[in-house]
Amino acid sequence: MNPFVYGEKVKGENFCNRQEEIKELVSEISSGQNIMIFSPRRFGKTSLIGEVLGRLEKKGLFTIYIDLFPVISNEDFARISLKSISVLLSSNSKNILKKVKTFFTRVSPSLFVTFSEDGTPAIGINFSKNETYPVIEDIFNGLYAFVKDKKKRAAVVFDEFQQVGELEDSRVEKTLRGIIQEHREISYVFMGSKKHLIYDMFNNPHRPFFKSSAHFPLKKIDPVIFADFVKEKFLNTGRAIAGGTALHIVNKAEAHPYYTQLLAHTAWESAQEGREITAEKIEAAVNRILEREEAAFTNLWDNLTLKQKKLLLALVLKGDNDKIFSAAFLKRYNLGSSSTVQRGVKSLLTKGIIDKEGDVIEFNDVFLKLWVKKRMS
Ligand SMILES: Nc1ncnc2c1ncn2[C@@H]1O[C@H](COP(=O)(O)OP(=O)(O)OP(=O)(O)O)[C@@H](O)[C@H]1O
Ligand SMILES: [Mg+2]
Repeated sequence: MNPFVYGEKVKGENFCNRQEEIKELVSEISSGQNIMIFSPRRFGKTSLIGEVLGRLEKKGLFTIYIDLFPVISNEDFARISLKSISVLLSSNSKNILKKVKTFFTRVSPSLFVTFSEDGTPAIGINFSKNETYPVIEDIFNGLYAFVKDKKKRAAVVFDEFQQVGELEDSRVEKTLRGIIQEHREISYVFMGSKKHLIYDMFNNPHRPFFKSSAHFPLKKIDPVIFADFVKEKFLNTGRAIAGGTALHIVNKAEAHPYYTQLLAHTAWESAQEGREITAEKIEAAVNRILEREEAAFTNLWDNLTLKQKKLLLALVLKGDNDKIFSAAFLKRYNLGSSSTVQRGVKSLLTKGIIDKEGDVIEFNDVFLKLWVKKRMS
């Protein structure tokens, strides 16, 4: 079986290293620190926090993981949070409703039991739109009451937290901010992938979460360690690979966790048992991925304006030391004024094509970059 996994949370033997990150997060979270973890898409936030929560549970903390990806309204936020919290509050209990109700004050009468598709019971809630904020307060205060009652500490993770910043008004953000500063025994972890969105939530002085949490920017995996991981997986499945070739895979995918796994997976498909895989096979694997993505990339390209196309191509061809707003760069790629480029960068950010930290611009999709390079130059 192909040992390279991509597109889902990885754990155990499929999880490469990140020992330093795990150690630091476990220590910060157990000491009650609130943390904001951010990175571009698919860098491994969800996988990493999974490992961290596992360790925290072993240390005796309660852990709650709340995936906010499906949240598109304030009410969704309340319902999804309650569902995750009720799993903890009712665990090992037959009468889950009674157990959960003990810890909630105001919302108790509106709670009911529902069953998910696989038959596990969860708690649902009825409330009207104008009750949303008191309901959210009550849900998290109920959790706090539970944690204190058990004389424990807890870690609550909000994955895809930028969704909250995108809601129609900022009241969920405000309500939540008020709650978290009261809960000393709970450490809250906020994770987000649209870096510019989550970053603004925590660094804009006009927003509720300003300076509320320590920043934890998640980086890529160390290329050398990642190459060892790739090599070992090839060897363990009877495919020979030289260290340099494994490193070539990692470098080609710019050590991006998801794209490295994707490329390794695709290269492994063509590796023959007992025969050493060559650099040519890696290039062939890159081309196979580009072919599979051809329709999606063409579509993306077609939907860009002429100015955006020019800018994207310039970003692909840009040297490491080029400054994109410099006169020389603007002239070389015929990009117009620096304000035009500023607008262009903003639109590519909004489209999720690039990400930006300070002056550094990165492509979210390593293969889109390779595709543009191949097709346009
Ligand atoms: N520590 C790791 N070791 C090996 N592969 C990893 C690791 N972390 C992430 N990956 C690869 O990256 C993919 C995405 O990981 P994950 O879903 O955890 O990232 P994410 O940052 O939460 O992504 P998203 O932004 O989509 O929420 C995984 O399916 C896996 O292929
Ligand atoms: Mg994730």
